Amino acid sequence: APVPEFPAGFLWGVSASAFQIEGSLTADGRGPSSWDAFTGERGRVKDGSHAEVATDHYRRYREDVALMAELGVGAYRFSVSWSRVLPEGHGRVNDKGLDFYDRLVDELCASGIAPVPTLFHWDTPLALEERGGWLDRDTAERFAEYASVVAERLADRVPMWITINEPAEVTLLGYGLGEHAPGRRLVFDALPAAHHQLLAHGMGVQALRAAGARRIGIAVSHSPVWTAGDSDDDRAAAALYDTLTNRLFADPLLTGDYPDGLAELLPGPVAEDLKTISAPLDWYGINYYNPMLVGAPQPAADASATDAAAEAASAEAGIVDSRAGSSFGGIDIPADLPFAIRQIEGRELTDFGWPVVPEGLRELLATLRERYGDRLPPLYITENGCSYGDGPDPGTGRIDDARRVAYHDGHVRALHEAMEEGADVRGYFIWSILDNFEWAEGYRQRFGLVHVDYETLARTPKESYAWYRDLIKSGR
Ligand code: BGC
Repeated sequence: APVPEFPAGFLWGVSASAFQIEGSLTADGRGPSSWDAFTGERGRVKDGSHAEVATDHYRRYREDVALMAELGVGAYRFSVSWSRVLPEGHGRVNDKGLDFYDRLVDELCASGIAPVPTLFHWDTPLALEERGGWLDRDTAERFAEYASVVAERLADRVPMWITINEPAEVTLLGYGLGEHAPGRRLVFDALPAAHHQLLAHGMGVQALRAAGARRIGIAVSHSPVWTAGDSDDDRAAAALYDTLTNRLFADPLLTGDYPDGLAELLPGPVAEDLKTISAPLDWYGINYYNPMLVGAPQPAADASATDAAAEAASAEAGIVDSRAGSSFGGIDIPADLPFAIRQIEGRELTDFGWPVVPEGLRELLATLRERYGDRLPPLYITENGCSYGDGPDPGTGRIDDARRVAYHDGHVRALHEAMEEGADVRGYFIWSILDNFEWAEGYRQRFGLVHVDYETLARTPKESYAWYRDLIKSGR
């Protein structure tokens, strides 16, 4: 059956980010970022790859915009590389770097596609990272300076802005667990990185508005948290996980307060900062991939058991247990966290091992409405997508990614139901237009509607691209 009809004016889009697609890391005076350094360290990226070429979008952006025009999207969400614009992270502006985004924005406008830039999608200028990065309050000030430089150049043509993408992942994966740049394993001592990104967002909003930018939002990752088991410990563990991944960011942004007990753990004049952080947003962006099933860590089975035996035992039990020092979705979980992430059973998994749960999107939107009510501004789904490795059929060259079509079909229906229940969602962006550099996974995970051959850099639209084009055309 066709997807039910969406309201006129609903915005269909696609997303990507600078470091994942651009390549040309030293072109035109770009300075290095935390991810340049991280990919250069042995063993950080699972397939040993780096992003020097990535999809070569920096040079092929016209071809990519043409693919988007053909797809019929109303908007393209990309990110600006901070260290292209300010090679040292502050101070000297590199005009040539800014020129690239100027050309990209012009190309998009000429094709009838709204440019939606994200100012920070994880690639912190290395010069700032070396001074502590997001652990340092100063990085928030530098972000505001950067935001005004970009807005002064682009605000006349950009109808919608995003300050920061997924501060939770940078905090947890970058500073907490060390799976992403800058590779720090600070566990709970990573919390200042959350606060400083939120502060950067708030200061960034002020800087953007002062430079004439309109319709400013943020892209926050959200997952419904399901409790594994029914003990009090399980419930407490799941609640803690929910607090750290969902509430830690949404609460200060939307209510002006941190969840109970957290403000005391944060540095600086937090009460003052919360006023800056909670300045009204024009809209709120949600990145949704899947729910998380969380319980209390299992007691270590046997003190004499080796790690390998413990891991084998938990694998057999279908459990990914933090105590076993195991991994979930490619992320190593250290042994000392007070919660354990479990695999959701009985669901199809993407090639990344993530469960496919379309109704999780509906649940999440209901939870956000319950929690924040009238404080929620209009919503956009700024990312939703799946990794499937389908490549060209050797005979026909066709890329039949039927599982991706099913994934998006399911999520778009769930979104429609949520909207009928009252969720004020104004748009939906698919992650991603192209296969790209998937962070610590390198090129092994493919999220694109368009396939990229990393030998030739040829782009080939997949079946999902045709499916999305038809959906956009018909509005249903
Ligand atoms: C990020 C993207 C990433 C995607 C898939 C999101 O968390 O914003 O950069 O590629 O998820 O992992």
